[in-house]
Amino acid sequence: MTSTNAEDAASPESRRLERPAFDVLGRLVFAAAAFQTLRAACETGLLEQLLDAPDGFDRDEIGTRIGLRGRWLDTLLTAAAAAELIRRDRRGRYSLADEIAPAVRSEEWSLFTATVAFEHHFSYRGISMFTESLIRETNAGIDNFPGRAGDSLYVRYSADPKLRQVFYTYMRAWSRIGGPVLWDALVEIAPTRMLDIGGGDGVHAIAATSRMPGLEVTILELPENVDVARARIEDEGLTDRVSVVAGDMFATSFPDDHDLVLFAHQLVIWTEEENLALLRRSNAALPIGGTVLIFSSMTDDSEDGPFIAAMASLYHAAIPVEGGRIYPWSAYEGWLKVAGFSDVQRIRSDTWTPHGVIVAKKVAEV
Ligand SMILES: C[S@@+](CC[C@H](N)C(=O)[O-])C[C@H]1O[C@@H](n2cnc3c(N)ncnc32)[C@H](O)[C@@H]1O
Repeated sequence: MTSTNAEDAASPESRRLERPAFDVLGRLVFAAAAFQTLRAACETGLLEQLLDAPDGFDRDEIGTRIGLRGRWLDTLLTAAAAAELIRRDRRGRYSLADEIAPAVRSEEWSLFTATVAFEHHFSYRGISMFTESLIRETNAGIDNFPGRAGDSLYVRYSADPKLRQVFYTYMRAWSRIGGPVLWDALVEIAPTRMLDIGGGDGVHAIAATSRMPGLEVTILELPENVDVARARIEDEGLTDRVSVVAGDMFATSFPDDHDLVLFAHQLVIWTEEENLALLRRSNAALPIGGTVLIFSSMTDDSEDGPFIAAMASLYHAAIPVEGGRIYPWSAYEGWLKVAGFSDVQRIRSDTWTPHGVIVAKKVAEV
C-alpha cells in the first residue's frame, strides 16, 4: 500500500531501494552547479594551468597561478575535484583528471571553451524558461534577452556587440568541431555554386572555398548580422568568390544560379511548416539534379538520444524563435520527399558532437 506519510516511507528497506534512484537524480539537481564549476575551471585557467604540472601543484601554487585565494579557491578546487575535472592526491597535490587531460591538451580546446561560454551566456539565460515554453507552446525564454516583442534572438543579439561576439565565436567553434563531415561531403559532391542560407560568419563558405578552388558561394544572412560575414570574407581575401547578400530567407528570393543549397545549423531553428517552405524554396531555385544539403546535430530516429542532441533541443524550444528542435533524421527525409527531393543520403560525424549531414537531389518541380 502506498504510504501518504513521508516518515513512514523512510524505512530501511525503502531507503535501500530509493538511495540509488536519488543518487541519479541528485546529480541532475546539481547539474547547473557542475556546469558552473566547469565554466569557472575554464575561465580561471585552472585546467590549462594544471597541464604544466605532471607531479601536481599544491593549493597555494594553483591559487597564485589562477589568482584566487582562501575559501574562494577552496570552493572551486573541491567542486572541480568532485566533478572529476581534477584530482587531489594523498599529499594534497592537484592534477588534471586523466580522462580530461587529452581534451585540455587538444587543438579543439579553445573551440570547447567557446561552447562553454555560449552555454553560459545564451542557453542558461533562456532555458530556465523551458517548462514555461512547453506549457505556453512558445519560446518563453526569449524574454530574458532585451528586444522588441516578435524579434528573434538573432535580431536581439545584434544590438549587443559583446553578446553577438559570444554567439559567433561559439557558432564558428561548433561549426568547426562538427564541420569535417560537412566539408568532406561537399568535396565529394563538388558543387560549382553554393547558396549558404543563414551563413553566419561565413565559416562554411571559407572552409568550402579553401578545399575547392573553383567554388563560388553566396551567403544569405539577416541585414542585422551581414557585417559579420562580410568582414571575415574580406579578411580572408575571398570577396571575388564569396558574396554576402542581406535578406530574410523567408522573404528574399533564393537566386536560381546555384547547384547546391546549404542549410547549416539552420533547420533546427524553425518549425516543420517553415522547414517545408524553405525546402520548397530550395527546390524552386535549383535545377533538376541540384543538391540540398542539411548539416546540424541530429536526434536518433528512436528519439531517445544522443544525449547532447536531446539536451540542445531545450535551447531551440525556449529561446531563438517560436520553436525549433533538434529533429530526428527521418523528419528531414520526410520533408525532403514532399519538397521534390530524392536519393537521400545520411552521413554521421565521428566527433563527440551529434552532427550529421543529409544530402538529397532535386528530382521533380513542386
Ligand atoms: C545558428 S546560426 C548558423 C550560422 C552558420 N550557418 C553556421 O553553421 O555556423 C543561424 C544564422 O541564421 C541567421 N538567420 C536567422 N534568421 C534568418 C533569416 N530569417 N534570414 C536569414 N538569415 C537568418 C542568423 O543571423 C544566424 O547567423
